[in-house]
Amino acid sequence: MEKTEFYPTIFKRKSIRNFDLTLIDDVTLKEISEYLDSLKPIYNDIKTEFKIVSPTYVKRRMMKEAPHYIAVFSEVKEGYLTNIGFMLQQADLFFSTNGLGSCWQGIPAPTKELLNSSNLEFVIFIAFGKPKDPESLHRRSTSEFKRKPLSEITNITGADELLEVARIAPSATNSQPWFFTGNNGIIHAYSTKPGFIKRLMVKKYIPIDVGIAICHLKIAAEHFGKKTEIVFDKTAKINSPNGHEYIVSLKME
Ligand SMILES: Cc1cc2nc3c(=O)[nH]c(=O)nc-3n(C[C@H](O)[C@H](O)[C@H](O)COP(=O)(O)O)c2cc1C
Repeated sequence: MEKTEFYPTIFKRKSIRNFDLTLIDDVTLKEISEYLDSLKPIYNDIKTEFKIVSPTYVKRRMMKEAPHYIAVFSEVKEGYLTNIGFMLQQADLFFSTNGLGSCWQGIPAPTKELLNSSNLEFVIFIAFGKPKDPESLHRRSTSEFKRKPLSEITNITGADELLEVARIAPSATNSQPWFFTGNNGIIHAYSTKPGFIKRLMVKKYIPIDVGIAICHLKIAAEHFGKKTEIVFDKTAKINSPNGHEYIVSLKME
């Protein structure tokens, strides 16, 4: 299975919700499990645990069944949700690159048994498996992404090619709660504060969403031959645009 070249996948991936319920073979599952163990974090000091579980452990709440789920657990520390978004988006791209479908799933809940199986906090599920219709695995063109225009998510000029990957990143309820400032050398990522109703629905997911967008940006910057580092930039925090919360910055050299 391909584990590195994810840049082209960013432009065609999509959430898959209709699965072929046939189980993935054990050899492939082992490879997936090993890949999950190799996901790169933003923060090395936050403990995480990713378990591949069957639907038995998932209260699906209206969502269609998938043959397999990743149950995502994390230590609760500053930045842990952004860290989870950043890490598990690598898995989303890994699945899509290798002919499998996946979908971040915030709606389902873990069974008590699953919840009690880890010392860490349960965060979210990712459903995965073979897509019911293999033809539907990928988008055929970027025009199929229903997303805000770049002008609504950044004030940076001259870095459109790079920022495009953040623009088309997935987010809970497709809310795209992100804004980017900076330049070709550093991109500061902010989350947008949602309105009252949205806040009730998606508050937990906003930092995850921004982590997902940062994952895409890092992959693109490295694809363009840059060395990257995720940093905390005090000035960027102080200069947060109105109604936005500073998350982290991506330094590129
Ligand atoms: C944190 C998070 C939680 C999500 N939860 C669900 C969910 O519970 N059910 C669902 O059908 N899709 C869920 N999604 C998928 C989004 O609806 C989807 O990513 C978004 O609409 C964009 O579509 P795309 O992934 O096909 O590009 C979630 C996505 C994210 C990032």
